[in-house]
Amino acid sequence: MNYAPFRGSPRSGGGYFPFRGEGGQKITIMETAYINGNFLPKNEIRISPEDRGFLFADGIYEVVRWYGGFFYDMESHMTRLKRSMKEIRLTWPDIDTFPSVARELIRLNNLQDHPSLVYLQVTRGAAKRTHAFPSPSVDPTVYAFARGFRPETELIENGIGTILRKDIRWNRCDIKSISLLPNILSFQEARDAGCYECIFVRDGMITECACSNVFFVIDGILHTHPESDHILSGITRKNALRLARSEGIPVSETAVPENRLEEASEAFITNTSFEIAPVISINNRRVGKGVPGKLTKLLREKFLAEILTFKG
Ligand code: PDD
Repeated sequence: MNYAPFRGSPRSGGGYFPFRGEGGQKITIMETAYINGNFLPKNEIRISPEDRGFLFADGIYEVVRWYGGFFYDMESHMTRLKRSMKEIRLTWPDIDTFPSVARELIRLNNLQDHPSLVYLQVTRGAAKRTHAFPSPSVDPTVYAFARGFRPETELIENGIGTILRKDIRWNRCDIKSISLLPNILSFQEARDAGCYECIFVRDGMITECACSNVFFVIDGILHTHPESDHILSGITRKNALRLARSEGIPVSETAVPENRLEEASEAFITNTSFEIAPVISINNRRVGKGVPGKLTKLLREKFLAEILTFKG
């Protein structure tokens, strides 16, 4: 094990601007990232061109949210991380160190009091290019960084536009794979259309979005695709469902057919970065009255209130 906890320290140089000084000027600090047991200035990190993440996208990732004092539901992220690793037959013996690695990244980057994200990626390591797993096996490549992050609250609270596209992804969307080409192509199509997200349709049924889960209110019932290999089991999805149930909102974990979308009076998307975001249009057609819905606003409020009182 080459885990050397909390080695390295921030240095000057490099470009990262999470802070503003009292005069509003940008304060630059060097980002410190984590690589294979070490904390290093990000611009000193080197990864082999033979890394299987680079050659094959042979790896998985996680994204956790730091709310300026605690990670929200780290436990669920750890459970999903371990599951993703197991599903692709990848091992990182030090996996249980991730929460302390993440915390240290926050500290080394002076983000303790700032809303931030920590990104972790584990790949099958560097080895001669061949489709078979490396034999003998090699150490995984483990890379993580922390970044100040604030969702675009005003835009989100007014509700976002979406497009609908064929789900062109593989059949193991339950694995948080770093192979995201279909997601980024679809997401970019949404952005090119002036929208925020792309909702996927597979065989006539709504699955999820390019980087979030999606919910619809139809006849007063909150619908979302059930957990399956056609969606990522979002941590925010799970917590939104829990909050909905605790508010007495009827919930149905069943996929909504594309041809019932016009019956939706409300829709919203969920993910770790933007939490619960109301959807007000799909392919330029209004959802409900074209404004954030009542249940959506209630769930968003409850979610944000829970975060204020969350104890890690
Ligand atoms: N994306 N579905 C997909 C395809 C996702 O990529 C994500 C998260 C989600 C929501 O999962 P969670 O609620 O656990 O964040 C659903 C992350 C944020 C990303 O790729 O950056």
